[in-house]
Amino acid sequence: MNILLFLVTDLLGEMKQCIDMGKRSILPAAIALLFLTSTAKSQVYDVRKYGASGGGSSDITQALVSAWKEACASTNASKVMVPAGTYVLNEVVLGGPCKGSIEVQVDGTLKAPADPAQMKTDGWVTFQNVDQFTLSGGGTFDGQGKTAWTKNDCSKKKDCKNLPINIRFNFVTNGIVKDITSLDSKQFHVNVLGCKNFTFQHVTVTAPGDSPNTDGIHIGRSTGINIIDTGIKTGDDCISIGDGSEQINITGVTCGPGHGISVGSLGRYPGEQPVSGISVKNCTITGTMNGVRIKTWPNSPAGSATDMHFEDITMDNVGNPVLIDQQYCPWNQCTAEVPSQIKISNVSFKRIQGTSSTQVALKLACSSRYPCDNVQISDIDIRYHGAEGPATSLCSNIKPMISGKQNPAICANATGSSVSQ
Ligand SMILES: *[C@@H]1O[C@H](CO)[C@@H](O)[C@H](O)[C@H]1NC(C)=O
Ligand SMILES: *[C@@H]1O[C@H](CO)[C@@H](O)[C@H](O)[C@H]1NC(C)=O
Ligand SMILES: *[C@@H]1O[C@H](CO)[C@@H](O)[C@H](O)[C@H]1NC(C)=O
Ligand SMILES: *[C@@H]1O[C@H](CO)[C@@H](O)[C@H](O)[C@H]1NC(C)=O
Ligand SMILES: *[C@@H]1O[C@H](CO)[C@@H](O)[C@H](O)[C@H]1NC(C)=O
Ligand SMILES: *[C@@H]1O[C@H](CO)[C@@H](O)[C@H](O)[C@H]1NC(C)=O
Repeated sequence: MNILLFLVTDLLGEMKQCIDMGKRSILPAAIALLFLTSTAKSQVYDVRKYGASGGGSSDITQALVSAWKEACASTNASKVMVPAGTYVLNEVVLGGPCKGSIEVQVDGTLKAPADPAQMKTDGWVTFQNVDQFTLSGGGTFDGQGKTAWTKNDCSKKKDCKNLPINIRFNFVTNGIVKDITSLDSKQFHVNVLGCKNFTFQHVTVTAPGDSPNTDGIHIGRSTGINIIDTGIKTGDDCISIGDGSEQINITGVTCGPGHGISVGSLGRYPGEQPVSGISVKNCTITGTMNGVRIKTWPNSPAGSATDMHFEDITMDNVGNPVLIDQQYCPWNQCTAEVPSQIKISNVSFKRIQGTSSTQVALKLACSSRYPCDNVQISDIDIRYHGAEGPATSLCSNIKPMISGKQNPAICANATGSSVSQ
């Protein structure tokens, strides 16, 4: 309360100054700020008041759960605070529904148990069933993944699902995650499931380029997800967009190392939902295994992915910068000869430039059963500096509409029996 009064007094002081200086035009902005301050007065639940000792490497699991419970029960806007310092945190589920809006501000560094054997579930910190949620602060979620990566190398196995994901958001609506860092997760860094209207802004994801299965942000079964001004360096996909994702906006993301920004893989399991409304804009991808790609499994159940747009992307030494792969079949876990039944349509790749680390800069390999429809490609300028010669493109079962700059020539060698119009 005192802090609030101070802020208000301070603002009034500034307003007075503005008027004194004759800058009357600033006044409305100052008044707007005053309103923001007064509506944002949330009750603070500091974990130190719930038994967390100040930093060191004290275990704050119980304190955090208790602070969350009280904050969640408050009808007022509430804020759980984890102040600066380093803390040990075991698996926690911070669940709703809560009675008012709730913010978790993490300024400190949270460390997961290093040994995966100490963790029972596939999530380290899980937020679920919360509406009007904010996760903020300059803090770090350190998954301490090194031990798990060496003990359980997922790149050599079919499935690594049981390692914990650093942060899970399950069924969270109207949410914002800003300024936090996810470090060295054991599996995916962030998983978004069943969320609506949820924004990631100025988030940092960091793990070594050779860390297995450490996707940056994975989205599934969610609508209206924005990822803005976010930097992702990791060992697997920077962002992966799974089935049931709709209205996903990705802008101002830097990616690399990692495996790029990916829609899919789709079509591996029965009962998958369609994907639609994907926008990837103004992103820079550096030194990754792939750039922007759409991948579906062969021999899949029927499905669709539509309205996907990739624009203003800079590639710096990227393998497979532009890739549609409808024969995605790692570990040969599929019948590769049977075509994918995922229909891909209404796609654009526009203003994509930079350098490729593989000679094939564009590969558009669509399903022979359901060729890609309505794909627009314009202003592509991707160079390759290998001994084999300049960059090339490979196309099958696709007849894109091409405009603007074409380096390499797009689909000069298109193949496929049932090329669509
Ligand atoms: C909500 O805030 C008001 C005024 O700040 C206070 O009087 C009230 O006790 C708070 N309610 C709860 C449940 O904390
Ligand atoms: C989306 O969520 C934000 C953050 O909670 C909120 O300010 C905004 O009003 C929400 N938008 C809609 C359409 O509900
Ligand atoms: C995504 O961006 C487009 C324009 O780029 C906008 O029309 C749409 O509302 C955005 N979606 C969300 C969920 O913010
Ligand atoms: C593009 O993204 C960068 C961050 O990578 C950001 O600084 C810049 O403002 C963005 N530009 C536009 C036009 O959105
Ligand atoms: C693709 O876009 C066209 C308009 O350009 C629209 O008529 C069609 O319904 C879209 N296809 C899908 C599957 O949404
Ligand atoms: C692709 O087509 C060009 C010109 O049509 C030809 O010179 C080149 O050899 C072809 N490349 C492949 C891999 O078929």
